[in-house]
Amino acid sequence: MMLLLQLFALLQAKAVAKADVPVCQRGYFPCGNLSICLPRSFHCDGVKNCENAADEENCDDISGWTSTFPVSHQNLPEMAPNCSLHHYPKNCRCRETQLECTRAGLYSVPKISVQVTVLSLKRNNIFSLPDDVFLMCTEMKYLFLQKNCLKTISKKAFFGLFKLQHLYLNHNCITSLTAGIFRDLHELKWLVLDENPIAKISQRLFTGLQSLSYVSMVKNSLEVLPRNICAQIPRISWMDFTSNHIKLLTSSTFLTCDKLKVLCFQENQIGLVPEKTFSPLRSLTDLDLSQNLISKLLPSAFTELRRLEKINLSFNPVYLHLNQFDSLRLLQSLNLEGIEISNIHLRMFQPMRNLSHINFKKFRYCTYAPHVRICTPLTDGISTFENLLANNILRIFVWVIACITCFGNLFVIGMRSFIQSEYKTQTLSIKSLCCSDCLMGIYLFFIGIVDIKYRGQYKKYALLWMESLECRIIGFLAMLSTEVSVLLLTYLTLEKYLVIVFPFSNKRLGKCKTVVMLIGIWITGFIIATIPFWNEDFFGNYYGKNGVCFPLYSDQTEEAGGKGYSLGIFLGVNLLAFVTIVFSYISMFCSIQKTGVQMSDVRKDKHGETAVANRFFFIVLSDAICWIPVFLLKILSLLQVEIPGTVTSWIVIFILPVNSALNPILYTLTTSFFKEKLRQLVYRYRRKFALKNERKNLTTSVVWTNDPLSLNAGCLNKITLDDDEVTST
Ligand SMILES: *[C@@H]1O[C@H](CO)[C@@H](O)[C@H](O)[C@H]1NC(C)=O
Ligand SMILES: *[C@@H]1O[C@H](CO)[C@@H](O)[C@H](O)[C@H]1NC(C)=O
Ligand SMILES: *[C@@H]1O[C@H](CO)[C@@H](O)[C@H](O)[C@H]1NC(C)=O
Ligand SMILES: *[C@@H]1O[C@H](CO)[C@@H](O)[C@H](O)[C@H]1NC(C)=O
Repeated sequence: MMLLLQLFALLQAKAVAKADVPVCQRGYFPCGNLSICLPRSFHCDGVKNCENAADEENCDDISGWTSTFPVSHQNLPEMAPNCSLHHYPKNCRCRETQLECTRAGLYSVPKISVQVTVLSLKRNNIFSLPDDVFLMCTEMKYLFLQKNCLKTISKKAFFGLFKLQHLYLNHNCITSLTAGIFRDLHELKWLVLDENPIAKISQRLFTGLQSLSYVSMVKNSLEVLPRNICAQIPRISWMDFTSNHIKLLTSSTFLTCDKLKVLCFQENQIGLVPEKTFSPLRSLTDLDLSQNLISKLLPSAFTELRRLEKINLSFNPVYLHLNQFDSLRLLQSLNLEGIEISNIHLRMFQPMRNLSHINFKKFRYCTYAPHVRICTPLTDGISTFENLLANNILRIFVWVIACITCFGNLFVIGMRSFIQSEYKTQTLSIKSLCCSDCLMGIYLFFIGIVDIKYRGQYKKYALLWMESLECRIIGFLAMLSTEVSVLLLTYLTLEKYLVIVFPFSNKRLGKCKTVVMLIGIWITGFIIATIPFWNEDFFGNYYGKNGVCFPLYSDQTEEAGGKGYSLGIFLGVNLLAFVTIVFSYISMFCSIQKTGVQMSDVRKDKHGETAVANRFFFIVLSDAICWIPVFLLKILSLLQVEIPGTVTSWIVIFILPVNSALNPILYTLTTSFFKEKLRQLVYRYRRKFALKNERKNLTTSVVWTNDPLSLNAGCLNKITLDDDEVTST
């Protein structure tokens, strides 16, 4: 069930996400109808990069990508009549001046007529390019050399290719490129060197590439970039160094890169970004620094990037300053996934008026950027950007459980007052327990009301709500309720324990002492719930950590005080109480079993034992259901395991109140005492209206046991024994 509900929440989140499929940015193409975008160099490169293989669909046989080619080569007959090349290898295909030799089994660059404009030598076995191998091909515009395991490229290999515009050398085995190798490629616009083991490049490598606008070196082994990398390539607008081993950027790296628009350093090892590193990049619109090791960023790191529209800082161990993004007024997309922002403040995101997408590590951060249209994560499991309670299940159940808890407990209080019992102190404790459980119901009612109040516009009020006095007060109520409840349960259990395990020691407390005990418990609960108010600096906003104001959450940014305190309460006090309860019940059960065995009637204690065991089992089980998830949650958070928010929300709305809702049932409604009283009532009622049959008066024959909670199984035994006799005849 739980899983199903979670799945439901997940699907909801997905549906929201899908409504905003991003259009791919420049240089990227979408994977068919999927929302994934890939760099254009992946299109038709002969490798399935999209899950649905959309990147290999509609490819010209000649490769590259569709839009690059002036003529489509689909469905080309073997020997096209209009081939204008005289010389080319047999297993290549020619059309006009374009030649396709993919998988032609070539071991070297073949002799080809000089008019060739497009040449594909993809997936052959060409391991080296000697000097002047393309010298005569002065008309060549596109050259594809992917997947050849090309290793050595002579210094003059590309000489003469004056009109070359696109050069593909990706997926080869190139370890180094000699400076000056591209000397003649004055027209080259695209240079793709992805997936080579190139470890080093120099500024002079780019000599001659005065038209170059795109260079991609994804998945190489670069460790440093040359100083002033743009010196020889003044027109460069796109550089992609994704997945290299770059550790260092310096203030002189991008000195003359003022035309650069897109810069990618995803998945490198950059640790430091010195002052003014990015200041020359006045045209930059897109900066990707994700998955690096940047820990320190100067507040001024991005001040000159006034054109920036998109920045990805995700998965860096970075500390962000309050004024970090002040000058990025045109920024539309900010990715801060995986970043702890301990000093988060509204002020940090306010200057970016155009921001429409923001990605955080935690949903809670979204409340600090209320003007941003789309913020992820879409939910913390409790709330979404729109609503305090994320989904309909939570919304409905908050009311249902509030009603059950509140009215169940009120009913029991009423019942206990109405039906006089000889055990006044016991009744007092039970009523006290009901009162504290009732508070949990009141808390849930408030959550339900606030949810309705902010329905559809929660993001505007989220922060206000979490920091409001109301939130703190209902958080206080919930905390008071749980703590008093836990302490009372322990007290009740210990009392029973003393009666049963030491039946002759006469250790029962008198009425006065019980009252003192109960008042003590309430005061303790009150103090526990009040302490976090004492020092805001130390505890932080202890209750306002999430929309439901319950301090179960424990994330890394939490103030040490608040974190330690909630750990101490939930894993200290409550765990101790739980262990006490479990052990008391186990030893009580053993004790009853022992005294039972001493009696002669075997059948008798068999029945009684099962009944008692069942009741004990349910009491312990309800406590366990309630508290074990909380203990686990706390232990996991202690081990710094990331806990999905959904889990927390289900615990707060469903599991914690379970105990409060079940307590009246377990401690009153199902006890034989209560059943008996009910039976008496019904009996009297019947007798009034139907005085015909003389019945055996059951009630008078019942021997009242010492404990109304039926922990001594005497009366149960009697009843079951009678039943048994009837059925056995
Ligand atoms: C994408 O298209 C394929 C067939 O063209 C279809 O089977 C698939 O369901 C589509 N997926 C989505 C998410 O629209
Ligand atoms: C071959 O070229 C002629 C003119 O040069 C043109 O009319 C004809 O359509 C071309 N054939 C093909 C298959 O491209
Ligand atoms: C930002 O970087 C992360 C990690 O590299 C990546 O998963 C995500 O798609 C990027 N986001 C954008 C908007 O480019
Ligand atoms: C960004 O903001 C400027 C004004 O500051 C506005 O003119 C421009 O249209 C906005 N652009 C977008 C994409 O919202």
